[in-house]
Amino acid sequence: MACSPRTLLDAQGRHIQYLRLSLTDRCNFRCSYCSVSNYEDGDRILSRPEIRRVVAAFAGLGVRRVRLTGGEPTLRREVVEIAADVRATPGIEEVALTTNGHSLRQLAVPLRDAGVLALNVSIDTLDAATLARISGRGARLHEVLDGIDAAAAAGFGSLKLNTVVMGGVNDGELGALVRHAWSRGATPRFIELMPFGDGVPVPTAVVKRKLTEQGVPLLPDPKRGWGPAHYMRGAGGHVGFIGAITENFCETCNRARITADGGFQACLGGSERLDLRDLLRAGASDEHLADAVQAALGRKGPRHHMDEAGARLVTLPMMGIGG
Ligand code: GTP
Ligand code: 5AD
Ligand code: SF4
Repeated sequence: MACSPRTLLDAQGRHIQYLRLSLTDRCNFRCSYCSVSNYEDGDRILSRPEIRRVVAAFAGLGVRRVRLTGGEPTLRREVVEIAADVRATPGIEEVALTTNGHSLRQLAVPLRDAGVLALNVSIDTLDAATLARISGRGARLHEVLDGIDAAAAAGFGSLKLNTVVMGGVNDGELGALVRHAWSRGATPRFIELMPFGDGVPVPTAVVKRKLTEQGVPLLPDPKRGWGPAHYMRGAGGHVGFIGAITENFCETCNRARITADGGFQACLGGSERLDLRDLLRAGASDEHLADAVQAALGRKGPRHHMDEAGARLVTLPMMGIGG
C-alpha cells in the first residue's frame, strides 16, 4: 500500500490527511472531563512494528500528518523511538504529540530530536490545588510547569498549551493562562468541554468575553492550523479557540483516529470501530487494509452530535481515543 496512488475520502467527500494515533490507554492523571481506563498495555496494543506498518499504510493513502496521543503518550516506553519511526515514514511531513506535560523535563529534547515538530501540552490551571481537583493527586503543577519550560527551551516548531474551560473551576484564570503561555513563547488555546465526563462547559463566545475582562483584548486573525482551532491575535501573540460544541467544525474534518489497541475510528463522536489489529495479526495484505479503511470511512457521518441535549459519550472513553 505504501506506493498506492489512492487517497482517503470519507462519505462526505472530505479528504483525510491527518491521523491521530494513540500509543497507550494509560494515563497518570485522572481528569474529571475524561474517562479513565486501567488496561495494561501488553499484547493488547499495537506493537512498534505494527505501528510502523499502519503508519506506512496510511502514508501511502495520502496521510501527511500524524499526532501521537494517548491516554498519556509519554507513558509508552518506546515513545521516542515510535516518534522517530513515524517521522522516517515516507510521505509523513509532520509528527505532532499531545501530552499532559508531566515528563517533558526528561523527554522534551529527545522528542524534538526524534523529529516531533509540534507539541501540545494540556494545562487547565496555574493553581496547584485546582489542578489536584481537576486532574487528581497524580498531577503535580510544578512538573507540568517545568515540563512546559523544558519544551520552550528545547525549541519545537510549534508549542501550544491546551486549556479545557470549566465554569466555576478555571474560568477566572483565563487571562493568567494566556500571559503565562505568551511569556514562554507558546500559543494558549481554549477548548470547549465535550461531554465525556464531568464539568460545566463554557461557550467560546463567553471565553472571549472573559478574556477581555481579564485583561486580554483580542482581534480577529486569519491564522489556521491543521486542527479545528481558529485563532485571534493579542498584545503578546495568538490565542486559539476550539469550539467543538458551539462552533461545529465537522464540515472541514480532515482526520481519523487509531486507538492504542488498533481500532480505526473515523469520527471522534462515532462509535463504529474497524479492528486493524485483528487484520494485521491475521496477515492482511496492504490492499485489504486499504479497502477496509476506505469502507469504514464510507460509513462516516457528516458530524458529531455532542451538542444535542443530554449527549454523553459513555461508549467512547476520551482516554482511549486521545481526543
Ligand atoms: P493542532 O493540530 O495543533 O491544531 O491540534 P489539534 O487541535 O488537532 O489536537 P489536540 O490534541 O491539541 O486537541 C485539541 C482539542 O481538540 C482536544 O479537546 C481534542 O479533543 C479536540 N479535537 C481534536 N480533533 C477533534 C475532532 O476531530 N473533533 C472534535 N470534536 N474535537 C477534536
Ligand atoms: N472535552 C474537551 N477536551 C478534552 N480533552 C480531554 N477530554 C476533553 C473533553 N471532555 C483534551 C485534553 C487534551 C486533548 C487531547 O483533549 O485536555 O488537551
Ligand atoms: Fe471530524 Fe467527527 Fe471530529 Fe466532526 S467530530 S471534526 S466529523 S472526527
